[in-house]
Amino acid sequence: MSTLLQLNTSLFSNQGQSSQLADQFVAAWRKKNPHDRVIVRDLARNPVPHLDGARFLSFLAKPEARSPEQEAVVAYSDALIEELKSAQIIVLGLPMYNFGIPSTLKAYFDHIARAGVTFRYTESGPVGLLTGKKVYVFASRGGRYAGTPLDSQTTYVRDFLQFIGIEDVEFVYAEGLNLGDESKTAALAGARKQLERLAA
Ligand SMILES: Cc1cc2nc3c(=O)[nH]c(=O)nc-3n(C[C@H](O)[C@H](O)[C@H](O)COP(=O)(O)O)c2cc1C
Repeated sequence: MSTLLQLNTSLFSNQGQSSQLADQFVAAWRKKNPHDRVIVRDLARNPVPHLDGARFLSFLAKPEARSPEQEAVVAYSDALIEELKSAQIIVLGLPMYNFGIPSTLKAYFDHIARAGVTFRYTESGPVGLLTGKKVYVFASRGGRYAGTPLDSQTTYVRDFLQFIGIEDVEFVYAEGLNLGDESKTAALAGARKQLERLAA
């Protein structure tokens, strides 16, 4: 039995196109793997706080020197990391907002990138500690950017995940969702076909 963690990052929560694609994948996955545990984290409903100086200093403080407030910040980050560690499969709904990833996802990433916990520095560079996971990303966009320099998301998400040790990342794109009904219908049908194949 595996654990699948679904991260929804659309500001429309589970109504977002990216969340719906992620839902469809998880439904198809469940058919094949009915005993797997599924955890859903909705970053619109339960946003992770913006990482500020006080929060970051909490991560750096020695355990025995932490204030109660710093303890709480570290415990919150630890819980997010434990949840992520518990999953072998991660499903990420990823809308494009203003040429980037949702700020809620950035805040989440900022709380799971912890030196000594999810990565460590060595003489030959940083080493990610969250190995052995597979990530499926469902990227929804109003325009079309995949394969062009304007697709800042794919490289960034791949680089970040690799930094914490996650190398196996599969992207499914639903692009051109704001370019008319025909474009939208074709994009969603194409993404659906791909996700059914990936879950099979
Ligand atoms: C605030 C906002 C900013 C957006 N910025 C972009 C953008 O930069 N490029 C793009 O192609 N689409 C953009 N869109 C369109 C979304 O990417 C598209 O509607 C996508 O399906 C949203 O996914 P969601 O429904 O899961 O939230 C934007 C939409 C919103 C609401």
